[in-house]
Amino acid sequence: MKVGVIGAGTMGSGIAQAFAQCEKVDTVYLCDIKQEFADGGKAKVQKSMDKLVSKGKKTQEEADEVMAKFKTGLNDICVDADLIVEAALEVMDIKKECFKNLMENIVKNPDCIYASNTSSLSITEIGAGLPKPVVGMHFFNPAPVMKLIEVIAGANTPDSVVEKVIEISNDLGKTPVKVNEAPGFVVNRILIPLINEGIFVYSEGISDIEGIDSAMKLGANHPMGPLELGDYVGLDIVLAIMDVLYKETGDSKYRACPLLRKMVRAKKLGVKTGIGFYNYADGGKVPTDK
Ligand code: CAA
Repeated sequence: MKVGVIGAGTMGSGIAQAFAQCEKVDTVYLCDIKQEFADGGKAKVQKSMDKLVSKGKKTQEEADEVMAKFKTGLNDICVDADLIVEAALEVMDIKKECFKNLMENIVKNPDCIYASNTSSLSITEIGAGLPKPVVGMHFFNPAPVMKLIEVIAGANTPDSVVEKVIEISNDLGKTPVKVNEAPGFVVNRILIPLINEGIFVYSEGISDIEGIDSAMKLGANHPMGPLELGDYVGLDIVLAIMDVLYKETGDSKYRACPLLRKMVRAKKLGVKTGIGFYNYADGGKVPTDK
């Protein structure tokens, strides 16, 4: 199987790694709007493979085999793809335009499946007006590790496409859960308001950053506290999802915390910009309120 991954950021490169590690996949086209971005995504995968080799989880030969499946470039390299997974920016027009161009001008395989890794946008709206159906294939960060894939059926997604994506998810060693389209699907509908609530708790001075994160790790057995998880996912992504939940439902319980919006405006987005609730300078992780 040949897979085109559109977008070589954190999610795109993680998704590309998950596919390249699958026996049934022989080629991964990792694409972005600039060659250097696509190459940067491949470099992230190389780093992750080097780590697996150094831990003894993979041999050097196995890692080389995984890396040899990669071809990087712009979207136009996906000519013979069997599956496209779009992990571009969470902007409706960008996703629609990207699929339109792939379907009409680039991909020649008539049976290619078109999937979006959108974290909350409507699959029905992404697919509206396009010549082929679109399905949701939602991975979780870090994509090579997290077991879940939400498989999302839009209002016009044929069952056969949904079933095919469930089969591919199983081939990847993941656990697919079929969900009907709704803002945030299942996980983000529950998880992102939790992170947002953690930010409210902080902004109300109820505890400090480490206190809130420790409380949720030790009191609810979460692997990460809400503030470090917000930094990990990216505070811009958290805000975008809160805004979709609010816009789509009109329910004030989904209002974004003003501190979250302020931090996004200040480009304090978490790990990816080096600062969020924690400061990640020099590979460290120091709460910004200390
Ligand atoms: N790529 C590949 N492997 C990675 C990785 C990455 N980016 N990050 C961690 N790993 C691997 C490690 O190599 C390690 O593997 P082994 O057990 O085989 O040695 C394993 O994952 C555990 O990692 P660590 O020992 O370094 O650290 P940890 O035990 O603290 O786990 C974690 C790290 C898996 C990220 C864990 O903290 C966790 O599960 N956090 C919560 C993550 C989460 O909630 N993700 C969902 C976010 S929401 C989302 O993604 C959806 C959306 O649309 C926004």
